[in-house]
Amino acid sequence: MCGIVGYVGSLPASSFLLEGLRRLEYRGYDSSGIAVHHDGKINIRRAVGRIDQLAAIMPDSDSSDSHGSLGIGHTRWATHGPPTEQNAHPHPGGDGEVVLVHNGVIENFQPLRDQLRDEGFVFRSATDSEVIAHLIAKSLRQLPETIGQPHDRYVAAVRQTLDQLRGTYGLAVIFRQCPDLIIAARFGSPLVVGVSRGAHFLASDTSPLAGHTDKIVYLADHQIAVIQPHDLTVLHRDQGRISHDVQVIQAETNEVSLEGFDHYMLKEIHEQPDAIRNAMRGRLDDQHATAIFGGLNLTPQQLRSIDRIILTGCGTSWHSALVGEYLLEEFARIPVEVEYASELRYRNPPIDSNTLVFGITQSGETADTLAALVETKRKGHRTLAINNVVGSSIAQAADGGIYLHAGPEIGVASTKAYTSQCCVLAMLALYFGRLRHLSYEAGMQFIEHLRRLPSAVEQALTCDAQVQKIATQYLNAQTFLYLGRQYNFPTALEGALKLKEISYIHAEGYPAAEMKHGPIALVDPQTPSVFIVPRGTTYEKVIANMEEVKARGGPVIAIACQPDSAMDQIADEVLLVPSVPEFLQPIVSVVPLQLLAYHVALLRGCDVDKPRNLAKSVTVE
Ligand code: AGP
Repeated sequence: MCGIVGYVGSLPASSFLLEGLRRLEYRGYDSSGIAVHHDGKINIRRAVGRIDQLAAIMPDSDSSDSHGSLGIGHTRWATHGPPTEQNAHPHPGGDGEVVLVHNGVIENFQPLRDQLRDEGFVFRSATDSEVIAHLIAKSLRQLPETIGQPHDRYVAAVRQTLDQLRGTYGLAVIFRQCPDLIIAARFGSPLVVGVSRGAHFLASDTSPLAGHTDKIVYLADHQIAVIQPHDLTVLHRDQGRISHDVQVIQAETNEVSLEGFDHYMLKEIHEQPDAIRNAMRGRLDDQHATAIFGGLNLTPQQLRSIDRIILTGCGTSWHSALVGEYLLEEFARIPVEVEYASELRYRNPPIDSNTLVFGITQSGETADTLAALVETKRKGHRTLAINNVVGSSIAQAADGGIYLHAGPEIGVASTKAYTSQCCVLAMLALYFGRLRHLSYEAGMQFIEHLRRLPSAVEQALTCDAQVQKIATQYLNAQTFLYLGRQYNFPTALEGALKLKEISYIHAEGYPAAEMKHGPIALVDPQTPSVFIVPRGTTYEKVIANMEEVKARGGPVIAIACQPDSAMDQIADEVLLVPSVPEFLQPIVSVVPLQLLAYHVALLRGCDVDKPRNLAKSVTVE
């Protein structure tokens, strides 16, 4: 995880660094820091907590150490060592002749640390990153004073260091003796360089560059960038200099106003009807009763030959993959497997030439999803991404894909991206179905149901006041159970994930009928069970499961469909949402669950948009 920024040019670096870190805060917010080179010294400032804490300790603009025009910055999501000031980046190496920021995980840091300590290097942090700083300092001390061009010695020291590391890194390194040099290196953690007249910018993604430059160089794995105000050289780690493409991209900031809402999460929950409309815009084809996707980069013939699909992702995106499994198997009759990306990347499942692998992700930066796709692609298989962020690492790594067009999602708890993913997967099921056996009439009906979806979600949002009341009643529960079947088994998982990630209440999602094989032991008068019980194939069966919970004194909250007069007799609390066809019901039924998590978290005084221990993008494995 973590976000990195850097600047080398003629303007004071710190304002870009601070602003850039704000835009990267979604990558982690445990601590932050910047290092600015000025007057032959490198000044480091670090603070625990949000970027605001760092801003509060920044020098006044007239103070001398705010004037340096070379600097690097970092916002941290803690991996090694707690979120303290000592563990905050930037980290000095040696006697401070090297300072760096690092994103990633160094797996062999312990033996390296032990060895460096034996050699007299003093460690001031518990991080894995500090070993990199000391290793570079050590190499610098061992290299002859003059080798080749002025900066070759520094590049050589970085290269020698990278050769000793096992793990992932996005690195930005500056040197006390070089007032105009940043060396950046990438393996597994993204980095981009922004090119401008007499200046270069460095960042983990393009958002800090918005408003500064639209000329962007994406660094690839194993590349090293030697960055100076007027010069950018890209090298391959094991080879020499290589050419680099400068792409012209209108970078976008993720600065989005709250527009009157108290939190981004609430705003994004309410944006869902529009997000779903945007996901469908231009993609419903009445003439052929199918869906249209511009970016699959596969011919209908190639798509027809697909006889197996693997859907992979993490967290909420994995939940939407489960919904996708039900949809694609029912409508396209293609066998689907859903894999956690973190498992898929290290497994070696047999995949034949007619298998298509989809990575599902909001951010497009999730390390495990990226690695799973890269590994699958390396083996020669076709990989596609269902992704929200244009130009993200996963969008670039995949052979093609489908953008969600949900707009920036800022709240750490994913809401509108989830419902948009489900909607895209529904369109995909229609598309594959229509390439196979699904009739024109069935296709048209499917399209009509999709078109009614945004207004159904709009209506579902009107249960907010009722959800608030329920939240007040159960906010002190220590455990919640979420139970659903078929299409709404993933809804149960998603409801439980939302609650635990933002309210810190333990919650378990389960297929309702599985409950009696274990989790029913948790049922007691203090443990609410939230049942997703729309009318449909398993309606009566789920009611039977509700009775089983009631019989054991457990409070029951039902998410049912309008109208359902029977529900009042069974459940303690009933939230009614519009009834849509079973295969689209997850998109509507999840809304009260998102609101329930939001209100419970709010009532418990939790930081809804930036819950503890989490980050919006999980860029380490
Ligand atoms: C969802 O609320 C979570 N914050 C998390 O599970 C998230 O869905 C997961 O990290 C995957 O992220 P991605 O969709 O950006 O790949």
